[in-house]
Amino acid sequence: MASPAPDPGPETSDLTSPETADLTKKMRSEWDERARENARYYIATAKNDWNDEEYFESGRENVRREILTDMGNICQGKDPKQMSVLEIGCGSGRITRALAEIFGQVYAVDISGEMIRQARESLRDCPNAHVFQNNGMDLGVLGNVRVDFAFSYIVFQHIPSRDVIRGYVLEVHRLLRPGGLFKFQVQGGSSMDAAPGDTWLGTPFSDADAAAMAEECGFEPRYRIGAETQYFWLWYFRRTWWSSLWLKLRRKIGSRFRRAPQTGEPVRS
Ligand SMILES: C[S@@+](CC[C@H](N)C(=O)[O-])C[C@H]1O[C@@H](n2cnc3c(N)ncnc32)[C@H](O)[C@@H]1O
Repeated sequence: MASPAPDPGPETSDLTSPETADLTKKMRSEWDERARENARYYIATAKNDWNDEEYFESGRENVRREILTDMGNICQGKDPKQMSVLEIGCGSGRITRALAEIFGQVYAVDISGEMIRQARESLRDCPNAHVFQNNGMDLGVLGNVRVDFAFSYIVFQHIPSRDVIRGYVLEVHRLLRPGGLFKFQVQGGSSMDAAPGDTWLGTPFSDADAAAMAEECGFEPRYRIGAETQYFWLWYFRRTWWSSLWLKLRRKIGSRFRRAPQTGEPVRS
């Protein structure tokens, strides 16, 4: 029996334009500046004088809320201590530390060299947390590491380019095991008025945008919560080859029986 044609996978992303290069330079220099001024405040603006204990406890609280309540989707039966996880935009390690207390290995990236310096210093006692400065648009710095779960919180809400965010989603697709979950938060509040290139108020996503980006990048957008708010959470499950095939079949069958708008007759594609 002939085996199914290999799935070509999602599209790739071209982030080589001079505009993207200028934008990543701007993101890096503005986040470095924020990190030098008061990293902990710009990461968690509820306080401007966090002590170590409160700061890392706030990260644990986020992890309790977003991860420990959702271990079925995240671990899918695996022992967390046997899992490798990815964090995009780790800042000075607030959430990275909490992740390292639960999972076997944590790989974390951030665009800001100053944030990474502070994260390395704070995570010296966490040998399973590996933090890297990246270029602000891809995960090349991690090579081909395989991860079982990917996470990002209050990071994409600051990125003023849909292409850069989409590029990250494609990169997660490259590193995440088939069936694995990428759980992340984007800006859903479309009424926010950001100037182009603003590195604090990022680009907003509508519910339809979020669903479309998943499909374009090879994920199933299984759940979405918080559309139209700042905390728009997305659960993207990386498609397996059989779920991609099933999707294609469903689309093909669906399009054959779609009705013509005026006559009500089935239309053939
Ligand atoms: C508000 S902080 C959140 C840090 C961390 N996620 C937390 O909750 O503790 C946003 C972080 O995203 C990083 N960041 C911003 N744009 C980025 C990009 N294009 N690529 C990677 N990291 C980025 C910043 O340097 C900053 O450390």
